[in-house]
Amino acid sequence: MTAQSSSKDAIGDRLEAARKRTYELIEPLDEEQLNRVYSPILSPLAWDLGHIANFEELWLVQTIGEREPLHGDLGRFYDAIENPRKSRNELPILRDAELRFYLAEVRERALEVLDEVEIDGDAEDPLLRDGFVYETLIAHEHQHNETMLQLLMMVDGYELPEAVESVGCLSPGQLPVQLDRQFEYPPVREAPHALSTIRLPGGEYEIGAPATGFAYDNERPRHVVELAPFEIDSWPVTNGEYAQFVEETGGEPPLYWERDGEGGWIETAMGRREPLAPEAPAIHVSWHEADAYARWAGKRLPSEREWEAAARGAAPDRDNPLGLPGAGQVWEWTSSDFLAYPGFEAFPYEEYSQVFFGDTYKVLRGGSWATHREDLRPGFRNWDLPERRQIFSGFRCARDTR
Ligand SMILES: [Fe+2]
Repeated sequence: MTAQSSSKDAIGDRLEAARKRTYELIEPLDEEQLNRVYSPILSPLAWDLGHIANFEELWLVQTIGEREPLHGDLGRFYDAIENPRKSRNELPILRDAELRFYLAEVRERALEVLDEVEIDGDAEDPLLRDGFVYETLIAHEHQHNETMLQLLMMVDGYELPEAVESVGCLSPGQLPVQLDRQFEYPPVREAPHALSTIRLPGGEYEIGAPATGFAYDNERPRHVVELAPFEIDSWPVTNGEYAQFVEETGGEPPLYWERDGEGGWIETAMGRREPLAPEAPAIHVSWHEADAYARWAGKRLPSEREWEAAARGAAPDRDNPLGLPGAGQVWEWTSSDFLAYPGFEAFPYEEYSQVFFGDTYKVLRGGSWATHREDLRPGFRNWDLPERRQIFSGFRCARDTR
């Protein structure tokens, strides 16, 4: 077997694994649930499914394989920028058996094309070099699984699939707690008893993805930043700490928190009523709330540069690809607006990140319990509106030091 055919087999296997995960997530649902609008800020699941297939058709079949689309201009209904989430259910999108058939048919064609193309490091087309377009498509499906999970939190009685794969980002040497299921909600790892901070001296730090290997355009180019001395908490803010903030300030509780009538809180995601786990990281908080908490605690949110410098300095490894202790349970809000790095070049298309640059969106770093572990890397930049909290968002605090 040549290196190229084995890497093609590996890509085929990972495409397959991503699809299996997608189907596992929707397996307990009926067609009515797949097509229902649960929230104006989330697509019906049928739209996400069709969009996953359509994006695969657009890139792996039409662009790379130069084939005609299966359903004419159906793709315009699955364009995420053209179609706001609140109106996606009114579009003539595919549903039920037709939708499942489309997912399967696109996949079959995508695998035919994969068989024909050259994807090694010398491939002329930058989309194919080192399999870039395939990496993008796999990550895209993973990321839509996470968006689908945001909606699934709103489905009464939904049971997360008992999945197989370890998320496996333990805090080295500190916490003998194993997260051995892929979907564990709420995130279960307990904060260490003695919270500490990680201090970084002022100076120059390298930020961003290296020139080779898979990363999105917004993570490049790698560049040097100058940071003043600071310290960052060694763990995200916990439910217990956040509850104290809510009690003392009358602040808004996170999404899915309800009073238990006895001075405590319960969590209500997926229609359950579970006592709040005080040691688990706080989740479903907006940027505004995270910022308010940090001020109340006499601290501040870290900038995304500080977060990444601390993560890279903490020596990411296989067990903790994000480096920072406690990372990978909740996305962590930073103080930073989503901006282009100096020398940024859009690739493979402007709509991936360039159109979102500016002061509208705030950057989140790390990854959550719902993020596929293949997508955890210290340089990954997620972004969202500062008022959003249906996402799996928490935060950790930082402060200036001298
Ligand atoms: Fe998408």
